[in-house]
Amino acid sequence: MQDALQPAGVQADTIFGLWNFTLALCTIVFAAIVLAFLYALWRAPRGTPESAPDLAPLAHPEKRVHRTVLWATVIATVGLVMLLVADVWTARALARLPLKEAVNIELIGHQWWWEVCYLDEDPAKRFTTANELHLPVGRPAIVALKSRDVIHTLWVPALHGKRDMIPGRSTTIALRADKQGVYRAQCAEFCGLEHALMALPVTAEPPAQYERWVQGQRQLAPAPDSDSRKRGRDIFMGTTCVMCHTVTGTAARGTLGPDLTHLASRPTLAAGMLPNDRANLQAWIVDPQRFKPGANMPAHPLPGPQMHALLDYLESLK
Ligand code: CUA
Repeated sequence: MQDALQPAGVQADTIFGLWNFTLALCTIVFAAIVLAFLYALWRAPRGTPESAPDLAPLAHPEKRVHRTVLWATVIATVGLVMLLVADVWTARALARLPLKEAVNIELIGHQWWWEVCYLDEDPAKRFTTANELHLPVGRPAIVALKSRDVIHTLWVPALHGKRDMIPGRSTTIALRADKQGVYRAQCAEFCGLEHALMALPVTAEPPAQYERWVQGQRQLAPAPDSDSRKRGRDIFMGTTCVMCHTVTGTAARGTLGPDLTHLASRPTLAAGMLPNDRANLQAWIVDPQRFKPGANMPAHPLPGPQMHALLDYLESLK
């Protein structure tokens, strides 16, 4: 779900309130203008002065114009001040989110995918994933936003407004999901050819379920438990895969592409683009440019048996 009108957190709820207030005010202004217009049509003299010689010219027409302009200015100013006050009030309410026991996350934008690091004071508890964000329901998350290349923008409409991710700078956004669900985030700043295909599924889950997910992500990648998976791992480690991807606990330590340690546990491939299943994974590896022209991932049209072994290995990375 990607909908600012179905808020799933206290902040999106506050923004929804501002949206409703703006809509109500604009509706009143629109209705008043339409009514004034209809009134003017109804009062307008019909015909020409010759055909209706009894039409008396208006007394003091300048005075009437001045009075109308004065009232229109006063009403417009009052309306704009009301919007300004509501906006400032909303911004202050958004900044008041209590941050006790917050989860600390670093989110890094890349062309065109998301790197997600779960931080911890204990380095052994840190882990990195990609193209998925998990949040415990009811607990705040402080998300530091960075970019590796160009300006991206994080926007999870169901939880909060937009926040830019600027290369060389760190911005921060605090989020809290209050309802369980999967919310779609989307890059909201034009960042190149595949900007539109830069989505991020945000899973808000009960704290116990979230903790289970965290524990799973902290594990090293499981060792291959079949011949096919062993062959797959050797293909992975022996081709260009390792130049860009990391699988923790192995020799693969590339940082140009997404960390693949728990690839198989993710809901989507290619930043929210394809459901994560074997057929899509194969199609993506064979020809990523078919799906995302301009992406940095090169094509790997491996022969059948090698591809199946590689897929077996990647599917074991749960
Ligand atoms: Cu990243 Cu648009």
